[in-house]
Amino acid sequence: MENEQKGSTEEKLRLFEVRKADLLTMGGEKMVLKQHELTKLTARERVDLLFDADTFQEIQLFVKHRSTLFGLGEKEIPADGVITGFGLINGRTVFAAAQDFTSAGGSLGEMHAKKIWKVMDMALSARKPFVAMNDSGGARIQEGVPSLEGYGGIFYRNTIASGYIPQITAIMGPTAGGAVYSPALADWVFMVKKNSYMYITGPEVIKAVIGEEVSHEDLGGAVAHATKSGVCHFVTESDQDCLARIRTFLSFLPDSCHSPLPVAACTDSPGRECPELDTIIPDKTNRVYDMKKVIAAVADKGEIFEPHELWAKNIIVAFIRIMGRPVGVIANNPKFNAGILDVNASDKASRFIRFCDAFNIPLLTFSDVPGYMPGTRQEWSGIISHGAKLLHAYSEATVPKLTVVTRKAYGGAYLGMCSKQLGADYVMAWPTAEIAVMGAEGACNIVYRREISSADDPAARRAELACAYEGQFNNPYFAASLGVIEEIIRPRDTRKRVATLLETLQDKTEVRLLKKHNNIPL
Ligand code: HXC
Repeated sequence: MENEQKGSTEEKLRLFEVRKADLLTMGGEKMVLKQHELTKLTARERVDLLFDADTFQEIQLFVKHRSTLFGLGEKEIPADGVITGFGLINGRTVFAAAQDFTSAGGSLGEMHAKKIWKVMDMALSARKPFVAMNDSGGARIQEGVPSLEGYGGIFYRNTIASGYIPQITAIMGPTAGGAVYSPALADWVFMVKKNSYMYITGPEVIKAVIGEEVSHEDLGGAVAHATKSGVCHFVTESDQDCLARIRTFLSFLPDSCHSPLPVAACTDSPGRECPELDTIIPDKTNRVYDMKKVIAAVADKGEIFEPHELWAKNIIVAFIRIMGRPVGVIANNPKFNAGILDVNASDKASRFIRFCDAFNIPLLTFSDVPGYMPGTRQEWSGIISHGAKLLHAYSEATVPKLTVVTRKAYGGAYLGMCSKQLGADYVMAWPTAEIAVMGAEGACNIVYRREISSADDPAARRAELACAYEGQFNNPYFAASLGVIEEIIRPRDTRKRVATLLETLQDKTEVRLLKKHNNIPL
């Protein structure tokens, strides 16, 4: 080191280039080759693909670990196994950290963590989104406690940043143990099929402790977390696919909760009619239809960006644009369990609503819901408190809230799908809407039980009474007469109405009681 400082300025500059180039080779050719053989990109290749060309500015490249334990004193770990910095994505500034598996398995030691702290702190100060690309063996085993402290500092920053700047994590390799909690604290988790997994304890420990045998993939792979646990919001095919989709996703999001929404150029018309919606509801009310077609019809150019596509499919959450402005859509999906609300659907929708509200993205709800899922499984899984999350999330949201009742809106679930009483600014119903306490047959079985059982022909009497009940309640007119809904609209006019209302409500501000924070039933 002393000799290095002795030469001419020219030599010092040359030496700087040599040292920098050395660090840029990461874990060396052999390790890079191994990474590529697994069809994984290196951290630097990932950064290059995530950011607009030549815009990434790396910070703290020369940071080194300072541990001497268990042979680490002699071990060089380039950039301490993580690349941090900022650059442009679609022309907008974003901060990022990419763990470099080729350098000590991307393991997280004290200095590695401090680099991530620094870039997260910068993202917070600059009020710009943060993207983490995880590919790591977890806590650097040789370093011990400082590694754990490192994770703690990341979790703390994830929490401080929550609702302030968008946080996205891409799982592009192993993520095990407590390391899974930074992704879980972020807003969105992308996972790459086959090459990524997340779990608290791996297959070996599971086998030893409870005797269960399971593979890495089945336990914590992208598909498992996208279909079973709901931890993963987006399953992607490859590193390239993952990074391209994060770029697209960021185009829907503002830089921070204090930033304006990004407005995309729009060639679609606000007055476009959607005649296909006039015929989408089947004549028989227990038949299914494709709610995604309804959402696509209303969206600019039919474009939908859908998180959680494979989990809790009875409810759809999606980002769309209307006249170029982002909108968060929540819709019951009649194709799965008749669009009923259960524990997972309530969790999925509630978190989505809170994200949109935190970042000022207006909410559009399509309601076609027969109720809350009955049964011991749901009751004992806590449908009461999970269902309450939905009521809480909608009620606390202060962004513009529009609701369209397409068909069923029954009972508590009617309230739960952004009814007027939960603060919807404008509720519309199609002429096919049924806004009632419950379905007609069920209602008659309760109210007219004695009368039906003592009738000469109970089935005929039940049908007769159900018909009268339907006439009174299973339509939008009774609700409209009470002002519980604002308007009955032709389905074809849905986009037109929604576009006008969103424009009208653009400056909505709602001030709530001064307090520390709500206590959502978690
Ligand atoms: C130090 C690590 C490491 C770690 C991997 N390496 N994980 N070094 N600490 N946690 C090093 C390896 O020694 C090796 O170094 C290089 O990275 C590549 O690792 P390989 O094992 O050769 O790679 P591969 O065969 O692909 O296996 C990947 C792996 C395995 C499955 C991730 O490395 C592994 O099991 N690692 C340990 C995982 C783990 O138990 N982590 C602790 C989790 S607990 P050389 O020098 O040989 O190239 C945790 C707690 C967090 O993280 C708590 C937060 C609150």
